[in-house]
Amino acid sequence: MPDNSAANIAGMAAGDERLHYDRVEIALHWTTAAFVAVLWLLGQGWGYLPRGSDGRHALQDLHVSLGLLFTAVLAARILWRLGPGRRPLPATTGLAEVAAKLVHYLLYVLLTGQVVLGWLWRWANHDPLSLFGLFTIPSPAAFTKAQKTLFGNLHGTIANVILILAGLHAAAALFHHFALRDGVLRRMLPAGRRGR
Ligand code: HEM
Ligand code: HEM
Repeated sequence: MPDNSAANIAGMAAGDERLHYDRVEIALHWTTAAFVAVLWLLGQGWGYLPRGSDGRHALQDLHVSLGLLFTAVLAARILWRLGPGRRPLPATTGLAEVAAKLVHYLLYVLLTGQVVLGWLWRWANHDPLSLFGLFTIPSPAAFTKAQKTLFGNLHGTIANVILILAGLHAAAALFHHFALRDGVLRRMLPAGRRGR
């Protein structure tokens, strides 16, 4: 099978649009990565503070407010990707291409599930689902204790699965960049940092 991957097509200009993601996709990708890191760290952080303390509640409220902002970022990202977003040529071929696609789709699914579970867990906890106190989104239903436990267990587990998967994904991108030197990482970098 001929190797048509962007990484291996010779003679393409460095600025060729088929080789990299568009500006919006790149901005949303790195915003997503930053949100996931901060949300995960906050989720770990309040565990060191005493239960019921003001500090613990403040970190949880911050997590939920940032979680609401992240909901908007993720929705924008998925809508952009399904709509006007530019899809560059695949970076690799064969098994590597299938594995990369699988990880990307799995990340989208897990991130969406995580957001839904976060909303549900907050409602089931009877705490306000609020954006920095500006407004509150009321619960559409009453949840049982068993449901609350289920939402919590799933949200806590998926947080770690996302982190592991994103870590492997980032390691693969860095391996392409430093070991294979094939320009895959540059596909997700802003124009000014793409180099040649
Ligand atoms: C990828 C995004 C997210 C990650 C990585 C994440 C991570 C975490 C982690 C690690 C915990 C602690 C779990 C535990 O104690 O077992 C947690 C708790 C929680 N998260 Fe998230 N979260 C995310 C998104 C969201 C969103 C979007 C919301 C809702 C707007 C949300 C709401 C909550 C709530 C309500 C808790 C429990 C707080 C409490 O104990 O009262 N999370 N999250
Ligand atoms: C929580 C962190 C991250 C998440 C959730 C994430 C998610 C994703 C997703 C879903 C895609 C697929 C884009 C699409 O085609 O729709 C993607 C692509 C990409 N990501 Fe990440 N990413 C994260 C962190 C990173 C990091 C830290 C790096 C670099 C060290 C990185 C490098 C890349 C590259 C180079 C691509 C393009 C791959 C290609 O051209 O096939 N990502 N990322």
